[in-house]
Amino acid sequence: MKILITGGAGFIGSHFTRYWLQKYPKDSITILDLLDYAGNKDILDEFKKHRNVTVIKGDICNKKLVQTVTKNCDTLFHLAAQTHVDRSIHSSDPFIQTNIVGTQNLLESSRINHVKKFVYISTDEVYGSIQNGKFVETDSLHPSSPYSASKAGGDLLCLAYWHTYKFPVIITRCCNNFGPHQFPEKVIPVFITHLLEGKKIPLYGNGKNVREWIYVLDHCRAIDLVFQKGKLGEIYNIGSGTELNNLDLAKLILKNLDFPTRFIQQVTDRPGHDLRYALNSSKLRKLGFQPKHTFTEYMHETIRWYKENTAWWKQIKDTSPYKKYFKKQYPGLTRILR
Ligand code: NAD
Ligand code: TYD
Repeated sequence: MKILITGGAGFIGSHFTRYWLQKYPKDSITILDLLDYAGNKDILDEFKKHRNVTVIKGDICNKKLVQTVTKNCDTLFHLAAQTHVDRSIHSSDPFIQTNIVGTQNLLESSRINHVKKFVYISTDEVYGSIQNGKFVETDSLHPSSPYSASKAGGDLLCLAYWHTYKFPVIITRCCNNFGPHQFPEKVIPVFITHLLEGKKIPLYGNGKNVREWIYVLDHCRAIDLVFQKGKLGEIYNIGSGTELNNLDLAKLILKNLDFPTRFIQQVTDRPGHDLRYALNSSKLRKLGFQPKHTFTEYMHETIRWYKENTAWWKQIKDTSPYKKYFKKQYPGLTRILR
């Protein structure tokens, strides 16, 4: 099979590429990634050495490029996106461009070039917040941030291409991922790397916001299963069932790294902060999915990975675009230093 993976230099995309290479060594893979701030050049260099992988550095919004790349693939996994809620609050333009315009560009070229299956990797955040119960796939969408609204735009375009053209799409909506190589702007790597630097950790608001957490490899396994067994034109929630509020998450990481709770610093809350995400994943379970990686064990593994790979995240944290973002995001930074 000829596979196209967009966003293969990112956190989930790189895990997914490695997963696929291992499981289906006969397939050929093309990665299309802009190498934006969250894209990892070293990972792309690693993939470049693989004889079954072609790496293309480029923008999913580039019509000509996307037309050429989709000519030569039969399956597309679309993971490229602008992904961080806080950044989308500071500036939503790149989110609309990549997550909506870029997705439409991929859909249109894939349709013209008769791509056989287009898997769109979406998020639980498109449903919005839920105080009690869990979202099912038929629930309406109430995204609250520019990030989630732009992802919802992508979902709706995929569904429109199915309804209008019978273009073969499948949508997955996953909960929060964690694992090695996650960019240190998302909460788990922010907490871990701050502590490893001896800094306090910034907890938004009262810390009562709840997220459902899945280990990144379980997400990759679920995408594969949905690709193999899912029905065209359908949506599949991908959840682990493990819910945790941010305060408990902070305490767990502190305990793991042997820091006292005074290292938690409550900071100004995120505007429009969703209280809770939770997915009903029975539809996926019916396809035979069970998460394999338990939260506690793999959080421990993840923390170990960040401890052993300080060069990776220090290099990111020491570069100026990150420093600039960070100053804007955590204006009280000097106060939260140890
Ligand atoms: P990430 O930010 O780590 O990686 C995104 C990748 O997309 C980067 O390599 C970046 O260079 C690339 N990219 C950005 N704009 C591009 C463009 N215009 N053209 C080509 N490439 C571009 O993100 P992630 O956490 O790996 O998320 C991957 C996908 O999974 C996203 O679609 C996201 O919405 C979805 N998702 C993520 C989570 C999560 O918890 N991280 C949960 C559910 C769904
Ligand atoms: P994040 O990793 O940004 O994922 P998302 O908002 O897409 O779920 O944040 C996860 C939770 O952690 C969210 O409730 C916001 C909170 N959070 C903090 O408390 N401190 C932080 O520094 C960050 C980045 C997030």
